[in-house]
Amino acid sequence: MDVRQRPLPQNWAQDYSALRNWNVPVEPCFSPSYFELERERIFRRVWLQVGRVEEIPKPGDYFVKELKVCNASVLVVRSQAGAVRAFYNVCAHRSNKLAWECRGSAKRFTCNFHGWTYDLDGKLIGVPDEESFVNFDRSGHGLRALATDTWEGFIFINFADPPNESLSEYLGEWAEEHRGYPFHKITAGYQWNALVNCNWKVALDAFQEAYHVPFIHKHSIAGAIGTRSNPHDHPLLIKLYKYHRKLSMGADPKSVYGNPLLIYSDQAREEAKRQQSIAGVALKLGASDKDDFSPAELPSGLNPTRSANWAWDINAIFPNFYLPLRPNYYQAYTFWPISAGQTEIELRVFYMPARSAAGRFYQEYRKVNLRDVLLEDFSTLEQSQSVLASGAHRYFTLQDNELAVVHLHKVVDEFVHGGHGAESE
Ligand code: FES
Ligand SMILES: [Fe+2]
Repeated sequence: MDVRQRPLPQNWAQDYSALRNWNVPVEPCFSPSYFELERERIFRRVWLQVGRVEEIPKPGDYFVKELKVCNASVLVVRSQAGAVRAFYNVCAHRSNKLAWECRGSAKRFTCNFHGWTYDLDGKLIGVPDEESFVNFDRSGHGLRALATDTWEGFIFINFADPPNESLSEYLGEWAEEHRGYPFHKITAGYQWNALVNCNWKVALDAFQEAYHVPFIHKHSIAGAIGTRSNPHDHPLLIKLYKYHRKLSMGADPKSVYGNPLLIYSDQAREEAKRQQSIAGVALKLGASDKDDFSPAELPSGLNPTRSANWAWDINAIFPNFYLPLRPNYYQAYTFWPISAGQTEIELRVFYMPARSAAGRFYQEYRKVNLRDVLLEDFSTLEQSQSVLASGAHRYFTLQDNELAVVHLHKVVDEFVHGGHGAESE
């Protein structure tokens, strides 16, 4: 779909008539039977982001992902030849779980039940008392591999065998627009995992619209994002792809939230100095560790409207990978469904490695700031989920700046009820 720069006032849905006429039903956000369809028709069929290549730099390095939504444990390992490979984390003998640690480094993997051993390519290389198996051929009993590919250092797996589309077909135009972002340089940071009692779409939806910011976040970041000319935090642009979507967001360029470590002008620097709050001190200190990338160093897909007040782009990669990209740091959240009413959100925030104590202090300040913001979101989401099944309303009532919410639910519905992905049924 075309990129449309947002004139004011503007009705996004005019550009996307198929979405404008589609009501988003509430039931898929609490129905266990709908969740089972999502499990089979989405999560076991599309490309899922599971980590970064930097997590497994050397042959034998591995990590394990417990993907409850796919009823699977997945072993992601760097092979002897340096390739990233993924396997069902299941022994081919009696289906014991093979690797029990969540990450580590191994020369080979030995099952602790009866001692079968596999190499880093999943090949069966050791079978105790092998003579007692009848007509046994090791070559047919390796680890079962999953389709694996990478994009800019992100590791994706796919349970479909074979996948309907290659990873590059699946990511499509979005991947081309964002290729070249300096992910490989922005490697410090932290991770939180949050178990939130709400449906995965309810959770993700709160991160792909800013309509709620002046209300839920009135005690934290609302003042830092909203401006007098844009009091409801309308995005600079919403762009919808076949499966994925993007919101380009502006913010007050002087704010900590919109402007982490970025000082665009002397005026903004002076403003930071005048502030007496912790945020002001952090901003001032952090400025000595300035490490933003210039627009020329960033891919063309960022800040598509070329706004002077641009702060970040939200990218939501179907189904559950949320990737806000900023000029000097990025977030990578993955919304892993546990059940129709529960989601484990893996929250990763990546910074440039701090070069000074001041810069490190600034990052820590940003961390606690984000924690407060997230708790404001999560507590509201749990309250929402607790009443969704009451039957009060069959449909959500959405406005134009919530268009990304409509798009997610529509794409989900197309996978669940035919259309996308149906060819492999
Ligand atoms: S289940 Fe793995 S060796 Fe028996
Ligand atoms: Fe929020």
